[in-house]
Amino acid sequence: MTWKSIGIFDSGVGGLTVLREIMHSLPQEDTLYFGDTARVPYGTKSPETVTRYACEIASFLMKRDIKLLVVACNTASAVALPALKRMLTIPVVGVIEPGARRATLVTRSGKIGVIGTAGTIRSSAYTREIKRLKPATEVLTRACPLFVPLAEEGWIDNQVARLTAETYLHELKDSDVDTLVLGCTHYPLLKPLIADVMGVDVALVDSAEETARTVAAILSDKGLLRPSTEKGNHNYFVTDIPASFIRVGNRFLGGKLGDVFQVSLDEKTGIV
Ligand code: DGL
Repeated sequence: MTWKSIGIFDSGVGGLTVLREIMHSLPQEDTLYFGDTARVPYGTKSPETVTRYACEIASFLMKRDIKLLVVACNTASAVALPALKRMLTIPVVGVIEPGARRATLVTRSGKIGVIGTAGTIRSSAYTREIKRLKPATEVLTRACPLFVPLAEEGWIDNQVARLTAETYLHELKDSDVDTLVLGCTHYPLLKPLIADVMGVDVALVDSAEETARTVAAILSDKGLLRPSTEKGNHNYFVTDIPASFIRVGNRFLGGKLGDVFQVSLDEKTGIV
């Protein structure tokens, strides 16, 4: 029997934090990861542009016969999920709903903070989802765009990173949220620093872990899980030259990155 792969995409390397959790909880699964490194960042782009990119990537991965698509990018999940769900017949999992659900389960005070890219925060996708799940919750949000380049650069606990985190987070800290959603794929890399700045009373919710749990539950429900005796293979596609994806990706995955293939973006035919 041939088993299909799980397709995962992000604007770049950040979604590898989601892949890492999927590899950890479902080591038997094959994965195809797509990083749109030629067009990163998505966080500063319009919803229309991000939706177009997301649909092109979904078509590319569908041609490789995936069984489930993980939108491992908060910005794309925030703006492109409805279009992707309309377009595809396979399950599509975004990172917003799993992270929001976890936050509503973790909070005791009902006061939740959410941090993400400008695009994610502007979309209010987390606020809507948290309030849908638990209407009485108070949600405070803050865009932290500089966290993305800091994580890419590996500056995750130096003075620049600490000052940036303190500047971004002081209002949330002063407003006494008891739960903070890391609403961007890159932020789990800064988790120890963010935890330190927010203090021990604030629980950090990592969308990556929750998303992996959701993927496992859907595949199990649908009878699509590979037997646990199998060992998964992992392939990577990027739209820019692979060198920096490999360098940063190895840091994200702890030095476990496999073969990386470059694909080209064509105005007329999409990604080939
Ligand atoms: N992957 C994006 C996200 O999670 C962060 C990087 C970007 O702006 O493209 O929102």
